[in-house]
Amino acid sequence: MEPAVFDTRRRPLRDLRLSVTDRCNFRCRYCMPAEIFNREYVFLRRDMLLSFEELTTLAKAFRRLGVEKIRITGGEPLLRKGVEDLVAMLVEATGCEITLTTNGSLLVRKAGALASAGLSRITVSLDSLDDAVFQEMNDVGFPVESVLEGIEAASAAGLPVKVNAVVKRGVNDGGAIDMARYFRGTGHILRFIEYMDVGVTNGWRMDDVVPAAELIEAIDARFPIRPAAPNYRGEVAKRWQYEDGQGEVGFIASVTRPFCGTCTRARVSAEGTLYTCLFAAAGTDLRGLLRSGAEVDELVRVVGGVWEVREDRYSEIRSEATVDLPKVEMSYIGG
Ligand code: GTP
Ligand code: 5AD
Ligand code: SF4
Ligand code: SF4
Repeated sequence: MEPAVFDTRRRPLRDLRLSVTDRCNFRCRYCMPAEIFNREYVFLRRDMLLSFEELTTLAKAFRRLGVEKIRITGGEPLLRKGVEDLVAMLVEATGCEITLTTNGSLLVRKAGALASAGLSRITVSLDSLDDAVFQEMNDVGFPVESVLEGIEAASAAGLPVKVNAVVKRGVNDGGAIDMARYFRGTGHILRFIEYMDVGVTNGWRMDDVVPAAELIEAIDARFPIRPAAPNYRGEVAKRWQYEDGQGEVGFIASVTRPFCGTCTRARVSAEGTLYTCLFAAAGTDLRGLLRSGAEVDELVRVVGGVWEVREDRYSEIRSEATVDLPKVEMSYIGG
């Protein structure tokens, strides 16, 4: 399908990221620090969440506007009861590629149902293979072994797997080579992500970021790699191939090499607010529209109107000053 709508920078709307819950069973310090989320933070009530029917109606509208790929996110999307039914509904209604990003904790239980429902592939967040470091990072003492079992369960169910590792200086950067070694040759694609200043709770500092270039150099020294062509225009991760044929590894340099110029992503929070940037402070309410009886045509008009005036390019204009601006939380919008 030809993209039907462009923003002010000639960027089409291609990807839709749907958050289905703002809850998570982890408390990763860079995302939902326990001291804030266990005390002050009020999670969304059930009736505030979009129903699967509402999400499907929305997806149809986005499809009409040119969306080709839909990613289900959270919080932790596998905490949403029956999420596999949503996968099936989205496949049926849109024919889009449907993917999902998860912390992997419930995958052993859910992988089969997700694959049968028509999920195209899955992305598992995993920041370290060192159990002590991993438990410290998820801050609920969740063992790394269970996530690795989840990854294998997904793979056994026929789902292609990507593994996302956020790298924070002095926390898990020492384990990057181990991760590369572990996933080389497995067919699972490991991607290292620069730690970003999303949300306002994680106390981000530039010093915490490990530039992708530094990781590329370190991995290349141990396992030689060469750059590979992107799979599609605007691919977020830069792909590198192991010289010895053991597959690929990716780097998402969202801080040091921003990719706003090709950003085709729209995000909808679990309560139905549309955001045109990961770093937006405000969005457009779609739940109200849906609940006042809006059908696909009207949603197409509203979302198209929002996209046409979109100017976002936060990562390109990030500075000391922007870090303290109000921003939506990562756990609310799903990365
Ligand atoms: P595929 O290439 O289809 O596998 O997906 P993807 O890489 O677009 O999606 P994924 O959710 O795996 O993205 C990985 C991470 O990259 C996210 O968790 C974010 O940390 C970062 N990221 C993704 N999209 C954006 C974006 O639009 N802006 C910024 N600044 N970071 C992003
Ligand atoms: N910077 C970069 N990535 C982040 N994620 C969560 N918080 C951050 C951050 N501050 C990642 C998670 C997961 C995805 C949903 O977003 O690790 O892979
Ligand atoms: Fe949960 Fe993912 Fe946030 Fe960690 S990064 S707290 S797993 S939503
Ligand atoms: Fe897109 Fe905003 Fe990320 Fe730039 S900062 S790539 S505009 S989501």
